[in-house]
Amino acid sequence: MQKIAVLTSGGDAPGMNAGVRAVVRTAIYHGLEVVGIRRGYAGLLDGDMKPMPIESVGDIIQRGGTCLYTARCLEFLTEDGQRRGYERLQELGVEGLIVFGGDGSFRGAQKLHHLGIKTIGVPSTIDNDIGACDANIGFDTAVQTAIEAIDKIRDTATSHERTYVIEVMGRSAGHIALAAGLAGGAESVLVPEVPYKLEDVVAKLQRGVARGKKHSIIIVAEGAGSGAEVGRYIEQHTGYDTRVTVLGHVQRGGAPSAADRVLASRLGAHAVELVLKGVSGHMAATHHGELTSVPFDEVFRAERKPSRAVYELADILSI
Ligand code: F6P
Repeated sequence: MQKIAVLTSGGDAPGMNAGVRAVVRTAIYHGLEVVGIRRGYAGLLDGDMKPMPIESVGDIIQRGGTCLYTARCLEFLTEDGQRRGYERLQELGVEGLIVFGGDGSFRGAQKLHHLGIKTIGVPSTIDNDIGACDANIGFDTAVQTAIEAIDKIRDTATSHERTYVIEVMGRSAGHIALAAGLAGGAESVLVPEVPYKLEDVVAKLQRGVARGKKHSIIIVAEGAGSGAEVGRYIEQHTGYDTRVTVLGHVQRGGAPSAADRVLASRLGAHAVELVLKGVSGHMAATHHGELTSVPFDEVFRAERKPSRAVYELADILSI
């Protein structure tokens, strides 16, 4: 093998840059040439690519976002798009492809694997919903960002003796909500994986107020419902002065945490080692802290659910 390519796809995740840097530098260390594909699969189809020499990844380990840009590419979901992507890589003489992204990005990588390109996925999404591994790149930073915002909101919630509903990202998973809710001392955490009743949320709030609580924080995962609706329900059923904050894309930006930089560096380097060994159609992963790889089919079957024990702990600690 002489040449590999790297791309970032789907929603960006803090730590992607550290991962791309690890891919480029490990590949060059092993005598490979690296092509950077911009804007994910969209850039592959458009031929939006650049050679990545060693200096192209200088001064990026600490930066959020992705220096390769990213996109969600509908055309690559079609067989025609996938075949064109394969042909592009063939024309370039690219034999291996490293894909940073989540579930949708890995499905594209699996198609290319079936067409004959050696592909390795690197789990990168703030949602942390890729299973069969310890953690996804970007999650740690996103939770830290959410916590910083929640702490600030708590200050003003205390001053004004208000109830705050804070909606966090996560798509259809509640990992960010649960981690931020536990670490942020929220009164209630609503996640899509655990059914809830708003009347119970209200009853808990009222018990707290009866005990003398002056303010409350409710965390809502976007997949569990709309923060605005939860806020409206609480205000209508309690009369408490309630405000709603949607944290939104702020959770996807910012400098990656040390943990995300370490994870991305390890997985990026490991991905290159894997393609060099001829492994393909796999995700590079850590399991109990050790580097491993998992076939995409297994990754798609694995479901990562927030821990029920952690959910119950968050509930107990916020009585
Ligand atoms: O998958 C990451 C994520 O940030 C989700 O948490 C969120 O639902 C989605 O992407 C938002 O996507 P977009 O940036 O396309 O609005």
